[in-house]
Amino acid sequence: MEDESLNVLLIEDNPGDALLIRKVLDEVDSASFRLETVDRLSTGLGELNGRKVDVILLDLSLPDSQGIDTFVRVYSEAPEVPIVVLTGLDDETLAVEAVRQGAQDYLVKGRADSNVLARSMRYAIERKRVEERLQELYEKERRLREEREAEINKRVEFTRALVHELKTPLTSVMASSELLMSELKAGPLLKLAENLYRGACNLNRRIDELLDLARGELGMIQLSCKPLDIVRLLHAVAEDMALAFASHGQSLRLDVPSRLPLVWADEERLEQVVVNLLNNACKFTPEGGTITLRALEDGARLIVEVEDTGSGIDENEQKRLFDPYNRLESDRERLSGLGLGLSLCKMLVSLHGGDIWIKSRKGSGSTFSFSIPLNRMPQGQENAETGDAYESADD
Ligand SMILES: Nc1ncnc2c1ncn2[C@@H]1O[C@H](COP(=O)(O)OP(=O)(O)OP(=O)(O)O)[C@@H](O)[C@H]1O
Ligand SMILES: [Mg+2]
Repeated sequence: MEDESLNVLLIEDNPGDALLIRKVLDEVDSASFRLETVDRLSTGLGELNGRKVDVILLDLSLPDSQGIDTFVRVYSEAPEVPIVVLTGLDDETLAVEAVRQGAQDYLVKGRADSNVLARSMRYAIERKRVEERLQELYEKERRLREEREAEINKRVEFTRALVHELKTPLTSVMASSELLMSELKAGPLLKLAENLYRGACNLNRRIDELLDLARGELGMIQLSCKPLDIVRLLHAVAEDMALAFASHGQSLRLDVPSRLPLVWADEERLEQVVVNLLNNACKFTPEGGTITLRALEDGARLIVEVEDTGSGIDENEQKRLFDPYNRLESDRERLSGLGLGLSLCKMLVSLHGGDIWIKSRKGSGSTFSFSIPLNRMPQGQENAETGDAYESADD
């Protein structure tokens, strides 16, 4: 059977006090404790090196060491062994300091009866075990965190390299085809150059979306926010996309008040969100359908909506569409796409401190809405000024 008696090392130079402790321990049950007494710190440190000690009872005033230094030296010699400091009535403050620095407990000499002493030592041992367990858990958590950070740093580096490797040749293809277009003026070669340019631009946009997703996941997207007139932005986007809707036989309606408060936003990123939603509306609405681009003020937020008269989406399919690569089964074969648009919208809107959601019913069209907080800057942009209401130039 395992020996359950505790090895107690008493470091105490006063023979009277040492004797008292021995007597008190004998009163508990002499078989429960094996007491070894030394009267100098140096001898105590030697004992700690040579034998198994379960708990130390430590007097801080010894012939070869005084005060808190006594505790510090014992603690650094055997940090794994619980220490109960023995103190006189007049140096309790010192004992409290020792507890603050890592002692498990302290006892006032002459005040501790057998039960108190036994309880204190057992409590010290248990407390030390709990501390060690906590320390282990903390270390484990720290290691995992460091591994995670190293992994993220690796991916950040990789993404940076990827941006460079993909974008550098593509930029030169776009620039060269643009130059060709301006040189060729007319004829079949111009058509080829235009195709080349359009293809490269589409590829560039796709690469940007993929890179944005990777950057967003790694927290690498920095917004560049300014007070933004959403009315002007929505009019400009609608104008740019009018041809795309017309070529699909759809009509685009604008339901935007002439005046709305400015919002703190990154114009390019917000435009990306609106364009993505409009592209979806265009793609998933049949010929003859109507798409409405709407903006409204709703308390402390501004809401932009894209409503269509398209196929609509079943309720239990709606939520997952904002996760990357999720497309409706029915659209996978039929229509091109990667399933990135809505997840990018969600990421960009939440970087602005807003939300994105959908209201739709199968067969009855869909409304995608997103909100941007008013009078509030996205995190990291807090030092700039808020914008006032703005009279749109399109009035
Ligand atoms: N307005 C809409 N009406 C009906 N279904 C839609 C609408 N918008 C999105 N969806 C559904 O949600 C899916 C995800 O949309 P998302 O924009 O993320 O991807 P995608 O348009 O398929 O591809 P990508 O945007 O990468 O070109 C779409 O494939 C489609 O099934
Ligand atoms: Mg899309």
